[in-house]
Amino acid sequence: MSPNTQADRKRGNNEPVDTSKPIAFSINGVPCTAYKGESVIQAAQRAGMDIPHFCWHHDLSVPGNCRICMVEVEQDKGDPWFDIGCNMPVTEGMRVLTESDTVKKLRRETMQFITLNHPVDCGICNKAGECILQDYHYEHNGKASMSVDRKNHATKFFPLSDRIMLDNERCIMCTRCVRFTHEVSESHALAAVYRGDHSLIRPAEDANFNEDAYSDNVIDICPVGALLSRQNLDHARVWYTKATPSVCPGCSRGCSINIWHRKPEWALKALDPQLNSRIERVTPLENPAVNGPWICNKARDLAAIFERPRATMAMAQGTPLELDEAIARAAVFVQNARRVVALVSSWGSNEELEAFATAFAARLGGAVTAYAKADHQPQPGETVEDHLLIMADKNPNLTAATARFPLAPADLPVALAGADVVLVWGEGVAQESLPVGATIIRLDGYAHEHNAKAHVFIPLSIQTERSGHYTNFEGTVTPFEACFAPKAPVAHAAELFARLAGAPQLAGAGR
Ligand code: SF4
Ligand code: SF4
Ligand code: FES
Repeated sequence: MSPNTQADRKRGNNEPVDTSKPIAFSINGVPCTAYKGESVIQAAQRAGMDIPHFCWHHDLSVPGNCRICMVEVEQDKGDPWFDIGCNMPVTEGMRVLTESDTVKKLRRETMQFITLNHPVDCGICNKAGECILQDYHYEHNGKASMSVDRKNHATKFFPLSDRIMLDNERCIMCTRCVRFTHEVSESHALAAVYRGDHSLIRPAEDANFNEDAYSDNVIDICPVGALLSRQNLDHARVWYTKATPSVCPGCSRGCSINIWHRKPEWALKALDPQLNSRIERVTPLENPAVNGPWICNKARDLAAIFERPRATMAMAQGTPLELDEAIARAAVFVQNARRVVALVSSWGSNEELEAFATAFAARLGGAVTAYAKADHQPQPGETVEDHLLIMADKNPNLTAATARFPLAPADLPVALAGADVVLVWGEGVAQESLPVGATIIRLDGYAHEHNAKAHVFIPLSIQTERSGHYTNFEGTVTPFEACFAPKAPVAHAAELFARLAGAPQLAGAGR
């Protein structure tokens, strides 16, 4: 994706640096290279050195308000000078020190100042374990508060929106959240009110944070535990969970995400076993080619999609049967059919689409006709499309599916006329649109009433139970990994199609 538009830049795909004019400088005596327009903090990061920072974020403007990134610049003559590295452009020959005694002293004092009114309630804070303030305290301060005055108390829990709770006492007024709503989501829904140690983050009077489709990104970028997800509040300590890289299937943007779930070694033994295989939270996985560092709120709510009631039982017209028997019965129907019309899932991975095309290759265009279909449509109340990330196509892999098979016509009954077997893979096809006299085979991961009406129903694994790749609307291919083992005997589509077609199985059509 070329970063040419305002929206591209907001997605974190900033203008590439001009590498034609390298600037030589040094950090702590180590020779480094910067490029035109880069600040000391940016050049240091590219060189693998982290200068502490709270208010600076690589995809937001630079307010320079926290002062923790203070560095020293050595001079040939005269005293060195000190300034914030996030707002200091690199110049030729500059000699930057980030670990001198004076820098360390300034950093310690800044930490003392920032924590002056901070409650330090790490023991009950949901950010504990991934809080930069906590990390920097141990790394750069390590001392108890020098203040003899009582801390200034503020509202402990203030509901910023239906999704986000603000703990004012923990807020260090870095203004990342405010800048996000002004510069990225453009809801302008947050503001800083009052001055000095009375400053508070508050919803703007003329905006509604509930209507910001990207609001939950402020939870991630808040450097402390001031902004809390109300849906994940107190679910699990971060060190009990692990992140599995995945792709949001919510629309054809295919944002890279991390799906957080409980580590097997911390499995709960006395509580509901479902807690060990539920999605604890979803966060962005920074991907400059797709979503930058952001995702929309639909991805945060993916549990509402993935944790719907599952199809766990193979059936023949509603009568349960063994998975293998169901597959064998479906295979007989498919292999003996005069005309099979298959409706191919746009939630299938690239590997599954490949497995389907390979299994039926000999009969495609003859006895087998395959159409790609949209499994999901925009739901009431959902943002259909915007200029930042959200796409109108609510399927993760329609691009790959339609690259292989024509899109199913809007008038489905006409396309299905004459079929003696209809194979429906995935969701989005109502029973009424299927021909009455045909044999119906359905393959799906979720429980639907119409599953019991199929002549054969085969339950499938879902995205969180297998690995694969999706191709987004721009052709970018992104991998996803399995988070959980399937909870019931289900078929993996990548292995199933060869059995249905009676073809040799595709090597490497893995899970
Ligand atoms: S709530 Fe968090 S992100 Fe917002 S100003 Fe306070 S510390 Fe910064
Ligand atoms: S923009 Fe689309 S793919 Fe990205 S997080 Fe939102 S729904 Fe998911
Ligand atoms: S990170 Fe530089 S002033 Fe905050």
